Amino acid sequence: MKTAISSIAGYLPSKIITNDDLSKTLDTTHEWIFDRTGIEQRHLVSDGEFASDLGIIAAKKALEQINFDPSNIDAIIVSTTTSDRRFPSCAARIQGELQANRAFAFDVAAACAGFIYTIAIADSMMKSRQLQNVLLVCCETLSLFVDWTDRSTCVLFGDGAGALLLNAAEDDSPSGLVATKLYTDGSPEKYNSILSHNGPQNDNRGYTTMMGRAVFKYAIENMSASMHEILTENNMTLNDIDWIIPHQANRRILESLCKMKNFPLEKMIITTQDHANTSSASIPLAMCRAIENGRIKKGQTILMTALGAGLVYGSAIIKY
Ligand code: ACO
Repeated sequence: MKTAISSIAGYLPSKIITNDDLSKTLDTTHEWIFDRTGIEQRHLVSDGEFASDLGIIAAKKALEQINFDPSNIDAIIVSTTTSDRRFPSCAARIQGELQANRAFAFDVAAACAGFIYTIAIADSMMKSRQLQNVLLVCCETLSLFVDWTDRSTCVLFGDGAGALLLNAAEDDSPSGLVATKLYTDGSPEKYNSILSHNGPQNDNRGYTTMMGRAVFKYAIENMSASMHEILTENNMTLNDIDWIIPHQANRRILESLCKMKNFPLEKMIITTQDHANTSSASIPLAMCRAIENGRIKKGQTILMTALGAGLVYGSAIIKY
């Protein structure tokens, strides 16, 4: 069997904060943020709104698109590094709210690479356990984990969710996941200082800290390397790829990646300007937008790539 996408939806919370809004409380400007990152605005949760709330809305939209009965979902896999609570999981709440009573559900924490990790896990589980329908939800509220007085980090992040219903398609189906490739580099300097959620280890509400320039360099080098390896292992080149959907961290990272790979920027899906870095939700949100506006079409081949705190990174190739 092949793992194929039955439906995909995204959700961004209603509160929008522009760069100009931030400049009223921070020593920053729209020009600085836009020139360095390509970000124009971000959506943020309101008081009392958490990651699972965003995930539930995205999941319901994905199911309603194809009138799918939640009781036919076999498993729910949630990617989040900003879970509502340390436990229970966001996945358990989403399962309960959807009344997906047959589904087992669990969270995966792989930061901004969470979409690549969870689609790889879903694919393996669908094959090994013969699951028919798996709901993948990426829901993140980074805004609750940044210091809103630290201009070097808070301007980069936003909140959002994406959800995909995956189904087991026949081997000869024209659509489906082609391959995934996952990596982790947890060496001490990467784990502790490049990009992490700092605070006492038992404190759920520390702050995100980052060495911006080092992250920039690692993101380009490692996303590039993982793209190269997944293509080579599958006897493909970038000429076989219709679209690249990268993790939407920063437009300058994405422009540099295209330049390095000699890949046309027009064939990369970029939505960073509209929702900033929404961690693992960013690839499904970008994909959803590109399908809605008619850029991505059925049968096209998409290369996805991401890197996040850990460092964790990886790539996936899917025929839509
Ligand atoms: N507004 C105005 N000035 C600022 C701001 C801001 N929001 N933030 C930092 N500055 C200042 C700094 O204080 C510094 O001032 P100084 O020269 O007086 O000391 C100056 O701008 C330059 O700071 P740098 O950090 O060197 O700026 P840089 O050009 O590297 O840009 C940035 C910073 C945008 C964070 C860049 O390093 C970057 O894009 N890194 C990648 C980070 C990223 O995308 N992280 C996302 C999470 S990881 C992931 O998802 C892959």
